[in-house]
Amino acid sequence: MRAQIVTFGCQMNEYDTHSIQSELAGLGYSFVDDYHEADLVVVNTCAVRGKPVEKAQTLLGELRKEKQRRGGLTIGLIGCLAQLPEGQRLGKKFGVDIMLGPGAITKIVPAIERGRFQSFEFERELNFYTPPPPTGAVTAHLTIMRGCNHRCTYCIVPATRGPEVSRPAEDIIKEARALKDAGVVEVTLLGQNVNSYGLEPGTGARRAHLDGYPSFADLLRMVGRVGIPRVRFLTSHPINFDDEIIQAIADTPAVCRFIHLPVQSGSDRVLKRMAREYNREYYLDRIKRIRELLPDTTISTDIIAGFPGETDEDFEETLKLYREVQYDAAYMFIYSAREGTPAAVHFEDVPRQVKVERLTRLVNMSKEVTHLRNQRWVGRTVEVLIKGPAEEGFCQGHTRGNHVTVVEGSLEAGIHHVEVTHATPNRLYGRPTPI
Ligand code: 5AD
Ligand code: SF4
Repeated sequence: MRAQIVTFGCQMNEYDTHSIQSELAGLGYSFVDDYHEADLVVVNTCAVRGKPVEKAQTLLGELRKEKQRRGGLTIGLIGCLAQLPEGQRLGKKFGVDIMLGPGAITKIVPAIERGRFQSFEFERELNFYTPPPPTGAVTAHLTIMRGCNHRCTYCIVPATRGPEVSRPAEDIIKEARALKDAGVVEVTLLGQNVNSYGLEPGTGARRAHLDGYPSFADLLRMVGRVGIPRVRFLTSHPINFDDEIIQAIADTPAVCRFIHLPVQSGSDRVLKRMAREYNREYYLDRIKRIRELLPDTTISTDIIAGFPGETDEDFEETLKLYREVQYDAAYMFIYSAREGTPAAVHFEDVPRQVKVERLTRLVNMSKEVTHLRNQRWVGRTVEVLIKGPAEEGFCQGHTRGNHVTVVEGSLEAGIHHVEVTHATPNRLYGRPTPI
């Protein structure tokens, strides 16, 4: 039996794909990269913007044709899109056999055994995850919590991934130890809002801890002690990114000095409409604190251009904030109206041309800032985790600050010290130094 799993979207989906892969391997499946050779195709979907939805739709169209041509093909649609009415319509239209929402992917085995099956429930507990099998990889993901209690008005995630649920710390540490034993040297702790780990229901800056759960800051210290050389985490929400977390990063050598802190907009008016729960001043205070306690930290962000009602002045505020923070990197998106979100219902969309023009300006400015930020590393020695070869005579990896780095020579996978000789907006370049 042969299966193909196609993954769209974020690291959470990659992690889920890993778990499904181990479940399918347990059933005796082997894996192929081409649906023409597969008995089962599972499409793990993303619904955060229109683009990934279109990609899934195109693939489902091809799969339906393939199934009509030869029969004997089971199609699974899982993940965020499957959870939504939009996905369920697509599932019907394209003759999908198995539909599982992101909270129900552990039902994959009974679903396959039955052939036709659907579930959109959210498992209440997150202690059912089985650690992904050791694949010989040097990097790995580790889910620590799932879901989101915020209600950002543009975002479909609370509808697809449900409310926040944290995994027990013992399970997380057990999984981290297993990854270490499997040779992993970099682990990324995952969750929609990792800073809300172990907090009681609700939102805001002042939530109390759940009984028996450590704070995210303490969890970082605990994972830091496991002995994996690099620990990262994704994604943070500024409202819960408190001083304790910054201090824990400062105190824990294993934790990489790389912080992804999505701002979304630099305009207070837009932030309010987005229901982001903070204003520009609060966000800049978090950045100031990070810079004080963690010099040399890489900071990256997410920004949405052309949120409904965003004026030229609002957008200028975003550009100004970008320069002020001096981000090392950014994921920049054009606002995409998602069915069922408050922004799509209540606010009028900005014309597409305006959105594209704003995004282009932002991207150009970010390249300039990133180039300057990258140049600061020239002449310094950095630690690079080599993952594999690049073009002839070079290999490639990333620093603790997450800079993609091209290194002369062919080094083994693992951690190396590298002198940076050159920087572009996208990469650092260097040569190995003796330790
Ligand atoms: N349109 C554009 N970007 C979005 N994001 C989330 N929802 C939307 C949307 N409707 C972006 C945010 C978030 C990132 C994961 O995706 O910037 O941080
Ligand atoms: Fe979406 Fe906001 Fe939750 Fe992030 S914090 S997943 S943007 S609702």
